[in-house]
Amino acid sequence: MFLPRGFTLRPKPAWNVARVATSFVLSHIVRRPVVWGTPISIMMEPISRCNLQCPLCPIGARELKRDLGTMSLDSFVKILDNVGTNVRVLALWNQGEPTINDKLPEMLRIAHDRGIYTMTSTNGNLLLRRNLISRLIDSGLDELIFSIDGLTQETYQIYRIGGHLDVVVEAIRTMRQRRDELKRKTPRMVMQWLPMKHNEHEIPFLRAKAREWGADEVEIKTTQIYTDEQAAQYLPNMEGLRRYERKGKKWETKRRYQSCKRLWFSTMIDWNGAVVPCCFDKDEDFPMGNALTQDFCEIWHCEQYNRFRMTLIRKGRAEEMCQNCTEGLKSFYVPLGKLERENSKSQIPITESSNRSNSFAVWSLEFGLWSFLSSPANERTVLLKKSPVKISSFGNSNAWA
Ligand SMILES: C[S@@+](CC[C@H](N)C(=O)[O-])C[C@H]1O[C@@H](n2cnc3c(N)ncnc32)[C@H](O)[C@@H]1O
Ligand code: SF4
Repeated sequence: MFLPRGFTLRPKPAWNVARVATSFVLSHIVRRPVVWGTPISIMMEPISRCNLQCPLCPIGARELKRDLGTMSLDSFVKILDNVGTNVRVLALWNQGEPTINDKLPEMLRIAHDRGIYTMTSTNGNLLLRRNLISRLIDSGLDELIFSIDGLTQETYQIYRIGGHLDVVVEAIRTMRQRRDELKRKTPRMVMQWLPMKHNEHEIPFLRAKAREWGADEVEIKTTQIYTDEQAAQYLPNMEGLRRYERKGKKWETKRRYQSCKRLWFSTMIDWNGAVVPCCFDKDEDFPMGNALTQDFCEIWHCEQYNRFRMTLIRKGRAEEMCQNCTEGLKSFYVPLGKLERENSKSQIPITESSNRSNSFAVWSLEFGLWSFLSSPANERTVLLKKSPVKISSFGNSNAWA
């Protein structure tokens, strides 16, 4: 079974996983929400501000409609206490750049000390300037995602507007060097690549570059778009690198299945304590409650949450925001085998690979849910290793976008 490295499951959280999984399956059999147990994974937003202006990101495009702010350390602890001890995985990011929050290492340390597998995602531009390298290593952080979508400053800055590739590369090199000096294996350093029209020609060189810079893995996460204009400007030409297919005049996500596990397995908590169904509710359009002022268990079982779950059970996709969701996507993380097949025509010389027949975070599906939904797991491309080493990524990690 592929679980995050260093991930452990003691009897009580294991029992919770069994309850959550059973209630998810049961809900689809009786066609109404049955909710047992509490979230196994949570995503928390340490800050909703960013130093860059990535054009397809609501924060980068300055399009987020809700209040912007920073989660304090006190709030973080209060929320973690409130959500309870069943949480086993923390994805500490949402909208915004986590490294702007000075308390990020402390937050990660607290979660790590509670035995939670920790992950965060960064554009990497502030790691050196804010002296975060050693603090992040010392925090016990399990996985650090570097968002990089260009191998030269010229291609990098087309999406990461305001960013400096040389600064990010220096941060990766420095972190790898310090990690090696300390003889540590964590944080696992993942170079995450969004394939777009302007960078797809660089994919053949990704693996070598990532290795040269000191990353452990490369993952290719398909790019989300919202409009036809964005599709024309950003979607890569290579079909296998897109999460969308053309249906008539519309772009639609390629899906393996419709329903959604996230409303049973995980939750999303913004910087201000607002609990929303998942990271796709960027503007808090579906607030379920506030984890700073209300008991989380009450929120988890509240009427709005169950109404949302009911719509998922009945219709598969709930609201407009669900149409662009990564849950059940065929091509969230692009599997290398598929890439190789599609690339054979264009002679892209990818030579070494290890395809994962299973991916991300929802290791819970390994408890039999996948067959229930009759669909194989998503795949995540791992270019640097021959042996499959799995980590979790929910989707999202931003994955989760
Ligand atoms: C909103 S960012 C926040 C964390 C951090 N600022 C970063 O860029 O990694 C979270 C994730 O969304 C990804 N992302 C940004 N724009 C995206 C898009 N259009 N489609 C898919 N993922 C996207 C980022 O690369 C990152 O992995
Ligand atoms: S994707 Fe990350 S780096 Fe880019 S604007 Fe959004 S939050 Fe900032």
